[in-house]
Amino acid sequence: MECSQRLLLFCVTIVWIFASISGKPTLENEWTYWKQKYGKTYKDKHEELNHWKIWLDSYKYVQQHNNRTDTGFIVEMNFLADQINIRSPIQYNNVKTDVPVTKVQDVPDSWDWRVKGAVGPVQNQGMMGDVQTIVITECVESYEFVKKGQLEGLSIFEVHDCCVHSRLEVDNAFKCIHDIGGLCSEASYPKSVGRCANDSCDADVQVMGGETVAQGDEQALKAAVYKIPVMVLVDASHASFQLYRSGIYSEPACSSVRLDHALQIVGYGTMKGVDYWICKNSWGVDWGDRGYILIARNKGNMCGIATHATYPV
Ligand SMILES: *[C@@H]1O[C@H](CO)[C@@H](O)[C@H](O)[C@H]1NC(C)=O
Ligand SMILES: *[C@@H]1O[C@H](CO)[C@@H](O)[C@H](O)[C@H]1NC(C)=O
Repeated sequence: MECSQRLLLFCVTIVWIFASISGKPTLENEWTYWKQKYGKTYKDKHEELNHWKIWLDSYKYVQQHNNRTDTGFIVEMNFLADQINIRSPIQYNNVKTDVPVTKVQDVPDSWDWRVKGAVGPVQNQGMMGDVQTIVITECVESYEFVKKGQLEGLSIFEVHDCCVHSRLEVDNAFKCIHDIGGLCSEASYPKSVGRCANDSCDADVQVMGGETVAQGDEQALKAAVYKIPVMVLVDASHASFQLYRSGIYSEPACSSVRLDHALQIVGYGTMKGVDYWICKNSWGVDWGDRGYILIARNKGNMCGIATHATYPV
């Protein structure tokens, strides 16, 4: 009798231990689940090990960040969690820190071009390719909407073939679009042909050129965004950006002069007393807040959001 009772206790203990081990998700289990979720495959064990290490760092980072309550935003283990940011930044020199703030009048406190219908679907550039090509195209699409009340997909390939000759080349992009006779629709321009084929289709939208917002001046930027969605360059090199999920993004380590990524600002607003810019990214709808990120506004030119802002005219 006593013997069988002990045996029962022993069995129950074993079952309990087993259940507690298998019931608790281990990191290995989470890694397997995450790889399945995002369809990740690696060339070999060696490559997998490298990505697993990066993933572990991301995992730790996400736990720590989301455990804090003072950051204003949350991060997640998205499809970039096994990758290291390798974009090389462009250095902007002589960016003023005390900018004369433009007094703007008749500009509402909040604005969102998306609800006006001026913004197309979120694109996915993949992590490679020229990031600015999509944003330049999107800005010309929005320009057509603001001028003619009509939104159509324009040819990203045409911008790529004709106007983007080096990475983050943005200064003359809108002028270049003017010089090639405007942009054709997405459907009428061929898939990338490796040379400028602007003669192969009739342009739907013509612009005069580009306008640049006074460097670092977030009031002037606000007035510009109220007129039309604006293209900006930012420092997106931090894990916090890469793994952003939602909330108002601000990163103490962000630079306002070393910029490595382009976004389209489509609006602005204030949430619980914190000002933000509504920024459209081009990493697909599975990234961030359905493809968007809110970046802190009036917080010392956060991540260089007002360092290089341009829009078509
Ligand atoms: C979360 O924060 C609490 C309190 O600050 C701390 O004790 C705990 O270790 C943190 N957990 C993680 C995973 O960072
Ligand atoms: C194509 O672009 C060139 C400049 O690269 C320009 O001279 C020419 O007029 C453009 N063609 C059309 C049809 O607009």
